[in-house]
Amino acid sequence: MYIAVVDQEGAALLGESRQAVRVLLVSGSTRGSSTNTAALRTAVLAAPDEVEAVLYEGLADLPAFTPDEDPGHPHPAVRVLRERITAADAVVFSTPEYAGALPGSFKNLLDWTVGGGELNRKPVAWINVAAPGRGDAAYAELAKVLGYVDAVIVDECCVRLPVARDAVGADGSVADAEFRARLTDVLGTLALHARQSPAEVPATLRR
Ligand SMILES: Cc1cc2nc3c(=O)[nH]c(=O)nc-3n(C[C@H](O)[C@H](O)[C@H](O)COP(=O)(O)O)c2cc1C
Repeated sequence: MYIAVVDQEGAALLGESRQAVRVLLVSGSTRGSSTNTAALRTAVLAAPDEVEAVLYEGLADLPAFTPDEDPGHPHPAVRVLRERITAADAVVFSTPEYAGALPGSFKNLLDWTVGGGELNRKPVAWINVAAPGRGDAAYAELAKVLGYVDAVIVDECCVRLPVARDAVGADGSVADAEFRARLTDVLGTLALHARQSPAEVPATLRR
């Protein structure tokens, strides 16, 4: 995010690059008309200029987690997940609550990141689209898991923006202008955090 420019005397001058902040958007729902996925799809459309937001769409492709995986030959879907997270400057989650907890498929995704360090010191946030009073147990569990993987939870970007099922349009996004404006703000604020405190890429993940 920051580039070093060397002047004629050889002194390094630090300056902010114009490179966009890359934000990976991860939905915890596999439902076709998911309100959580719709919110994140809308975030792609509402992202401010300084943010390149990408929706991760591989949740249902992931195999069941096993600690026995051969680190040299990860499942292709797991490799893609890890590469996407590693390439991102920040990650935003949005997940439903199932039976008072995270959906199993989403917890499975998170389990695939526990050993590899991809989320280590990565700025993260979430958008809770559940109706008021719903979904809190899922986000409490998400916070706990993100603590285990040592992600940096950016509290001011963790927001509740309810999305009713009938607010999802035929294109799979949410048209409401105020909703989109809130997403623009959240991503802009998250980008600032990511620029100020960039994630350290563990040595084992450097390419
Ligand atoms: C198996 C299952 C369990 C659920 N359990 C809860 C729950 O414990 N608490 C809750 O608030 N909603 C619960 N719900 C409702 C979902 O959170 C709600 O339908 C949500 O909109 C689904 O998110 P999506 O639209 O992104 O698929 C459950 C739904 C399903 C299918």
